[in-house]
This record gives sequence, C-alpha cells and structure tokens, in this order.
Amino acid sequence: MRFSSSLVILGASVAYALPPLARRSSVNLLDSVLVFDAPAFQDHQNPANTLVQLQAYVSTRQFSVAPLLSGISSLLNKTLGLDIGSDIATASSRLELFATVGLSGKDVSFNVGGCGNAASLQSTASGGMAIQNISLGACGAAEANGTVDLTSLDSRDVTFRVFPSSADGFGVISDIDDTVKISHSLDTLLLAKATLIDTPVPVTGMPEVYASLAQSLNSPQFIYVSASPFQLYPFLRDFIDTTYSQSNGPIMLNNLTTTDLSSIIDFARADGVFEYKSAMIDRIQGMYPGKKFLAVGDSTQKDPETYGEAIRKYGDFIACAWIRLVDEANNTDARFAAAFEGVDPTKYKLYTDAEIPSLANIDVAGGSCS
Ligand SMILES: *[C@@H]1O[C@H](CO)[C@@H](O)[C@H](O)[C@H]1NC(C)=O
Ligand SMILES: *[C@@H]1O[C@H](CO)[C@@H](O)[C@H](O)[C@H]1NC(C)=O
Ligand SMILES: *[C@@H]1O[C@H](CO)[C@@H](O)[C@H](O)[C@H]1NC(C)=O
Ligand SMILES: *[C@@H]1O[C@H](CO)[C@@H](O)[C@H](O)[C@H]1NC(C)=O
Ligand SMILES: *[C@@H]1O[C@H](CO)[C@@H](O)[C@H](O)[C@H]1NC(C)=O
Repeated sequence: MRFSSSLVILGASVAYALPPLARRSSVNLLDSVLVFDAPAFQDHQNPANTLVQLQAYVSTRQFSVAPLLSGISSLLNKTLGLDIGSDIATASSRLELFATVGLSGKDVSFNVGGCGNAASLQSTASGGMAIQNISLGACGAAEANGTVDLTSLDSRDVTFRVFPSSADGFGVISDIDDTVKISHSLDTLLLAKATLIDTPVPVTGMPEVYASLAQSLNSPQFIYVSASPFQLYPFLRDFIDTTYSQSNGPIMLNNLTTTDLSSIIDFARADGVFEYKSAMIDRIQGMYPGKKFLAVGDSTQKDPETYGEAIRKYGDFIACAWIRLVDEANNTDARFAAAFEGVDPTKYKLYTDAEIPSLANIDVAGGSCS
C-alpha cells in the first residue's frame, strides 16, 4: 500500500531508491514459495495452543540450470562413462532449486486445516529462508494440510502438511542417505548419480521396519534429518512420501546457498555434519522434551558420533540408537567405542543388512533397543 502511493506520487524510481532492508512484502506472482512439511507441537506456555515450526523458502528464478547441468554431465561422462543425455529432464528437475535466488523480507501467510488461527511467517532472512515457531491456536490431533494465502490474481496452489504430535509418547529421528535410501554417500560420483539421475531405491526392508514402528510405537512422530541441501527437498519428500508412506514426517535439511558444483554433489562429506545434526536434535528436543526418540542412522557419516553425544546430553530422550553398518565405512570397534563412550551398551545397536527384517521384532516401546 505504501509502495503504490509513493509510486503514484513520486514515480517508479523511488522504489529502486529505497534501501533494500526497508523492503518487506508478501509473496507475489513473480516469487516462488516452498513451504516444508512441518512438525507441530504443544505450546509449553499454553498447552491448549499448538505451535508449528514452519520453514519456508521464497525465491525468484534467477538463472538457468544449464551451466550446472553441463558441468555435472561432463563430470559424470568423464569419470563414470555415463551419458546423462536421456536423463537430462530428471537431472534438470532435481537441480531446479539450485538455480533460484532467495528473497529476503518476504512474509508468507497461511491457514492450516482444523486449526483456529490464520497465521503468518514474518520476513524471510537473507538467503530467502526462514524457520519460525508460529501459533495456530487450537488444532486437531491429526495430520493437516496448510495452504499459503496468495493474491487474488495468483492461481497457484501452494500447500504443505503439518504433522502434530503429543507432548509425550515416541518419535523416530531418521537419517536419509544410506539409512533409508541407497545413496552411496562414500563415493562422490555414485552419490551424484543416485542424487541427480537414478530413481531412488530404499534400503531393502526399511520401509517395512518403519511401517512396523508406526504401529508398535503408536504413531510416533517420524522426523527425517539429513545433511543434504534443502534444494533436494522436492526429490526427497517425494521419495519418503511414496516409499515410506506409513512413516511420513517432516524432513529437515541443511542450508546451502552456494551453486558451486562440487558442494552440490559433495554434501555428504561436508564438514560440519556432526554440528548440523546435533543442532537439529536440539531443535527436536526443544519441541518435544517429553518424548522419547529412537534415532536411526548409518556408519557412513557422523550418525554414531551424533547420536552418542545426544544420549550423553539428553539421556532417555534418545531411547535407542540404531546404526546401519555400511560396507566401506569405518566400522571398527574403536570408532563405535569412541562414538558411544559412556553410553550404556544396551542403548544402541549396530546392524547389518541381513538383520534389517529382525529390527521390527525389537520391543522399543517396552524399553529394548536390540
Ligand atoms: C561422453 O564422452 C564421450 C567420449 O568420451 C563423447 O563421445 C560423448 O559425446 C560424451 N557425451 C556427453 C553427453 O558429453
Ligand atoms: C537456515 O537459515 C535460516 C534463516 O537464516 C535459519 O533460521 C536456520 O537456522 C538455518 N538452518 C540451518 C540448519 O542452519
Ligand atoms: C490433504 O491434501 C491431500 C491432497 O493434496 C488429500 O489427499 C488429503 O486428504 C488432505 N488431508 C487432509 C487432512 O485434509
Ligand atoms: C521454537 O520453540 C521451541 C520450543 O519452545 C524452542 O526450543 C525453539 O528455540 C523455538 N525456535 C525458535 C526459532 O524460536
Ligand atoms: C576409524 O575411526 C577410529 C575412531 O575415530 C579412528 O581412530 C580410525 O583411525 C578410523 N579408521 C579409519 C580407517 O578411518
């Protein structure tokens, strides 16, 4: 409103003369908006109120994916002898968000079905991202759909899911790459291929194990925590949604603002995975301090170290840690002894692929971890 009147009085140049920090606006037709499926939790101050921890990314399409794509194509061709010619559409769509530029100062208004309050995420940060706790008023206990309010000229349908969960009971924190999805995290090129081209493949037996946990833990809050860049969200969400349909939940991903080829495909080796994952566990603990979580990961990156540290820090909040032993990873006794130093050995289980079906028989609800 202020903008349009100044434009009328002083002319269009005024808009460009305003300092960028003063700009604050809602999503318009030229913007793309992505709202991540979000966890909701009981407001500790006011138990009748529900809070949603909402993450949104607002961007503009700034450049073409073609340069990224050609770099990746020639790399894969040279090193794996892989011609991605026929997979170019898949690779382009998975790279799409890397070719966007985040917009700061954007407000995202929305409604969530079954909740009392219309709500708004206030002002995305530089980089276009924001994560905020937003009050929804009184909500039902079931999964609900949220809808972003767009202008009357904007016919797009921007929706997301909200996963509420009670203050007590169980949850499952799960890694994605090489825990529930075959990603070849230890091999940069195979990782690039699995990430950009291949139809994603689950770790055999894990969808069934998670479906079984959904029953035995009485609809636990599943939260997927991965160090993959958030730009891969549409791809990963689609995979979890279809392949792990009985154990759907929010997916927490890392911020990556670079469009540098090597960091796009080398995220699994990036430094700081331990710090990032530990921060996500802190975030989950902040929302659900009264729950108990089963933490599931693998031996490729830093899951043993992260979960060991979380047990030392939070005790029974992490009821059990399960670690998939991945061939070629550091699976030495010395590694696990260090990762789980000071942790009761009955609280964690290292498992091979052959043992996956038997995970469903473990009475986690009854206090067993192995
Ligand atoms: C892949 O490399 C071969 C030669 O090694 C070349 O003939 C072919 O055109 C390349 N394909 C692509 C898609 O770059
Ligand atoms: C991502 O960026 C947002 C906005 O700056 C910030 O609030 C959030 O904590 C960041 N997430 C991670 C995982 O660093
Ligand atoms: C949410 O929307 C999907 C379709 O997008 C629909 O199938 C589902 O039933 C909706 N869920 C609720 C709780 O309204
Ligand atoms: C959201 O609320 C939780 C629980 O009170 C708290 O731990 C966390 O710090 C809050 N996050 C933000 C971004 O305010
Ligand atoms: C495996 O991890 C242990 C403990 O961190 C370390 O001492 C050892 O050097 C590692 N081995 C390899 C092959 O990386």
